[in-house]
Amino acid sequence: MTRIPTLTDGTVTLRAHREDDAEGAYEQCQDPVSQQWTTVPLPYTHEDARRFVTETMPQGWADGTSWGFAVEVDGRYAGTVELRDEGEGRVEVAYGSHPWVRGTGAMTRAVRLLVDWAFTERNARVVVWRANKGNWASRKLAWRLGFTLEGTIRAALPQRGELRDAWVGTLLATDDRAPKGTWLDVPVLEADGLRLRPWRDSDVPRIVEACSDARTLTWLGTMPDPYGEPDAQAWLEHQRENLATGDSAAWAVVDPSKDVALASVSFFHYTPELELEIGFWAHPDARGRGVMTRAMARVVEYAFEDVGVRRVMAGAAVDNTASRHVIEANGLTAWGTERFGTRLRSGPADCVFYDLMIDDWRASRRR
Ligand SMILES: CC(C)(COP(=O)(O)OP(=O)(O)OC[C@H]1O[C@@H](n2cnc3c(N)ncnc32)[C@H](O)[C@@H]1OP(=O)(O)O)[C@@H](O)C(=O)NCCC(=O)NCCS
Repeated sequence: MTRIPTLTDGTVTLRAHREDDAEGAYEQCQDPVSQQWTTVPLPYTHEDARRFVTETMPQGWADGTSWGFAVEVDGRYAGTVELRDEGEGRVEVAYGSHPWVRGTGAMTRAVRLLVDWAFTERNARVVVWRANKGNWASRKLAWRLGFTLEGTIRAALPQRGELRDAWVGTLLATDDRAPKGTWLDVPVLEADGLRLRPWRDSDVPRIVEACSDARTLTWLGTMPDPYGEPDAQAWLEHQRENLATGDSAAWAVVDPSKDVALASVSFFHYTPELELEIGFWAHPDARGRGVMTRAMARVVEYAFEDVGVRRVMAGAAVDNTASRHVIEANGLTAWGTERFGTRLRSGPADCVFYDLMIDDWRASRRR
């Protein structure tokens, strides 16, 4: 019989599966998130779960092809983590948590223990992570442990008759375990009668209305025209990617009492500790009452106080009076006009660029 080690960091324990884990494994596989992102058979029965914990997992150890551990937290089954041997010092990592433990960081701890064990006890040279594209929880966890996202491979992972696009990441034995790059947050911010919060799928109709509006289309010349729901959905998906790569962050500006999206405010061209640029658009029914000015003010404050940049930038087409007003009302000063610096629906147009330095912003707040 293969001896299966017990690993612990004091909070999370990895140990051999036991027969009494079957109920937890069964519950985990009824969960829609588990079903969406793994290849568990559907329907998943009690017998499947019993076989998984008493046969499949021990068999991997006996054959030397895979090393699966039950994750235990507070004496309770919390999921399974596994390494699969791919030869030549390459191992693939797989993990799944029981819904009761999600979002507590326990799975991150469990996979960290597993990866440490892979390098120290199994002499792994590289741990490979593969996930169906769109599995953000899995990607965040891999990022936290120091994996480098290598890219997306199309049609790489079979799942119930379909071939899914795969994200692939690697962690080398020689890598440090710190996250690679910045993963931006979109915290909820209160702003003078407005709330800034992350965009949601349920905002799609409001995004479509705002972005198919004639004024929005005039000034934001790279916006698709006509603009429909697939464009809004693609924009939301793109935002998730931009957060994960540290490129940009966008907030929905909402009326706190109704939670209806009034505007978008975002930052991009972000260089940590140095600068970022703010951009925005407003829904037609929210214009003309200071929504955009107040929302931008809150993001300026967030940029200086929380993100930690020292310069905030913005730009607007020379003739875009409303946009320039919002920027100037926030204390940014124009430093130059770039010929053909922006693209309007009608074609390239001159763009006024503005900035605000942290010291000037602080001084203006003391006055
Ligand atoms: C992937 C999975 C194991 C993560 O488990 P978990 O218990 O939530 O893990 P943790 O709490 O340790 O960490 C997950 C992180 O992802 C974040 N996250 C969760 N859902 C997210 C989403 N939709 N978008 C972005 N981040 C998300 C969490 O906030 C957390 O981030 P934090 O460390 O900044 O707090 C779990 O979602 C799961 O079992 N999914 C189904 C099986 C699966 O997908 N396995 C991986 C296959 S490759």
